[in-house]
Amino acid sequence: MRAIEIRKKYLDFFKNHGHKIIPSSPLIPENDPSVLFTTAGMQPLVPYLLGEPHPEGKRLTDYQKCVRTNDIDEVGDNRHLTYFEMLGNWSLGDYFKEESISMSFDFLTKELNIPVEKIYVTVFKGDSDCPRDELAAACWKKAGILDGHIYYYGKDDNWWIAGETGPCGPDTEMFYDTGKLKCSENCQPSCDCGKYVEIWNNVFMEYFKSETGYSKLKQQNVDTGMGLERITFLLQGKETPFDTELFKGVMDKLFELQKNDIIESRRIVAEHLRSSMMIIADGGRPTNLDRGYVLRKLIRRMIRHMNKLGIELNELSTLIDINVDNLKELYPELEKNKEKIKQVMIEEKDKFVKTLNNGEREFEKEVKKLKEQVKDTLDGKIVFRLYDTYGFPPEVTKDLATENGMKISMEEFDKLFKEHQEKSRAGSDKKFKGGLASTGEIETKYHTATHLLNAALKQVLGSHVHQRGSNITEERLRFDFSHDSKMTDEEKQKVEELVNKWIADKIPVEHFEMKKEEAIAQGAEAMFIEKYGDIVSVYKIGDISLELCGGPHVKNTEELGHFKIKKEEASSSGVRRIKAILE
Ligand code: ALA
Repeated sequence: MRAIEIRKKYLDFFKNHGHKIIPSSPLIPENDPSVLFTTAGMQPLVPYLLGEPHPEGKRLTDYQKCVRTNDIDEVGDNRHLTYFEMLGNWSLGDYFKEESISMSFDFLTKELNIPVEKIYVTVFKGDSDCPRDELAAACWKKAGILDGHIYYYGKDDNWWIAGETGPCGPDTEMFYDTGKLKCSENCQPSCDCGKYVEIWNNVFMEYFKSETGYSKLKQQNVDTGMGLERITFLLQGKETPFDTELFKGVMDKLFELQKNDIIESRRIVAEHLRSSMMIIADGGRPTNLDRGYVLRKLIRRMIRHMNKLGIELNELSTLIDINVDNLKELYPELEKNKEKIKQVMIEEKDKFVKTLNNGEREFEKEVKKLKEQVKDTLDGKIVFRLYDTYGFPPEVTKDLATENGMKISMEEFDKLFKEHQEKSRAGSDKKFKGGLASTGEIETKYHTATHLLNAALKQVLGSHVHQRGSNITEERLRFDFSHDSKMTDEEKQKVEELVNKWIADKIPVEHFEMKKEEAIAQGAEAMFIEKYGDIVSVYKIGDISLELCGGPHVKNTEELGHFKIKKEEASSSGVRRIKAILE
C-alpha cells in the first residue's frame, strides 16, 4: 500500500466512525511563539483538549505535518527523520479508552490487515501520580490482542506530554513485530534493536501538569498519533522509510550522481531536502535565529553531505524537481511553491559555499600559525571563532583537522558553544515574555488596545470569544479569535464604539503579579495558560479586562487615541482575524 492510500484509509475509517476531517495546520505554528515547529497533531488542538468546544465537534481526525529536530544528529540511521507526517484522531471529552482501543485494533487488523500475531501493545504500569492502566490492558484483551503481547512500562515509555507542562496522560503504544530475531533473551517492545517498531500511540489525556504537579482536566480526551513513514515501510515489507516511494526517487538519483558511496549521507541529503522543502513551502526562511536557524542548519547539513558524496551542488535543482514530483500528490503545496523553494534553497546554498570558502581560508591560516609553533592541536577557541565569526561548522573544522593531521579540542568548543546558546536562549525567553518583538511607544499602545478589543468582542459576540493569536507592528494590530461567522457591519461598529468609549473613559491600566491559580479563579484570560509559570503577570483595565500578559502597557486608556477596525476576515476554521489601527 502506498503512503497516500494509507492516509486515505485512515481518514475514511475515522470519518466512518463519526470523526470530522480537519486540515493539517502549517508546520510553523501561527499563534504560538513558544515552539519552533508543529511537533504533533495535538499541538494546534491544545485549547480544545483543555475544554473549549471545537467548531467541528468532539471527534476529529487529520494528518498533521510535523518537524522534530531534537534527533537531528541521528538522521542517517535507518529510522530517524526530522520531518514526518502524523495521522491522528481525537476525542475531545467524548469516547475514552474502550472505544479508542477497539477502533485502533479494528483499523490495524481489518483495514491494514496486520496479522494479530505481529501486534504487541504496551500500557502504563502505574505510579504515585496515576494508577496502573488495567482498563487499557483489559480493553486490548477484549479486542483480541494475544496473551503475552501486553507489556507494562512506567512514565519513560507510557506517558505522553508535549514539553514540560500541559495536558498529558498515560498512553498505550502499538508495536509491529518485524519478524527479526530477538537481539537478546530480554528483547521486548521497549528495546530499540529494530525487531519491534512503534506504530501508533493513543494518549489518554485526562491530566494537566503544571510546575507544581498533576491535576485532572475538565474532560477525558484521547489523542492519538501514527507515523505515516513508519507504517508505510513496515506494510511494504521494506527495511527503512528511505526504501519507500516517499524517498526512493531522490535516493536513486543520489546513487546515480554520487562519486563516494555513503548510505548515511544519501539518507541525510534525502531527509533534509524533504524537510527543508516542507518548511519553506509553509513560509519558513533561513535566518540566524530560532526556526530560521533550524532551516539553515538543515540546508547546510544537506550541502555538506552532498559534498561528501562528491555530488555537484548544481544538481540541487534537479533533486528539488524529483522530490516535488514524488510528493506532490501528498503535499500539493510543494508544487505550488516550487519556484520559491528553489530560489530560497539555491540562495542559501550559494551563501554557504562562500562561508565554506572563507572559513577554509581562515582555517588554513590558523593551521599555518600552529605548525610554525610546532603545535598539533587546534584549541576550542579557534573552532569557536571560526564558527562564530565565519559561520564555519565545527564538524567541518573537525574533518579538515583530521585531514591535516591535527588534533582538535572539542571540549572547550562545546563549553563556549553552550555559553553562546544560553545567551541566545535568554534572548528568546525575553521575547516570549514580552510577546512583542519590539516594544516602542506605538506597539505598547497597540498592546493595550488588543486587550480592549478582546473584551469588546466578548461583550458584542459572546463569551465563546477567546484569543487565538496576536501580532503587533508599528502600523497596526492583528488579532485572531474564536468565532464562527463573519462579523456584521453592525457588530464591528459596536466593537469600535465600545473600545473608543473605554478610551474616552480614561481608565487606569493596573499591573499585578499573582499565583496562576488565583488569576484563573478571578477569570483572567490567557492564551497558552500551560506555558506560564506559577507566578504570573496580570494586567487589569478597570472591570473591563483582566489578562495574563507580560506587557508592556500604557498607564491609562486615554493615551490610545482613536480605535478603528480596518479588516475582518477568516483566519482558519472557527477563527476570525481583525486588523485594526489607532489614529
Ligand atoms: N501526541 C501523541 C504523540 O505525539 C499522540 O505521540
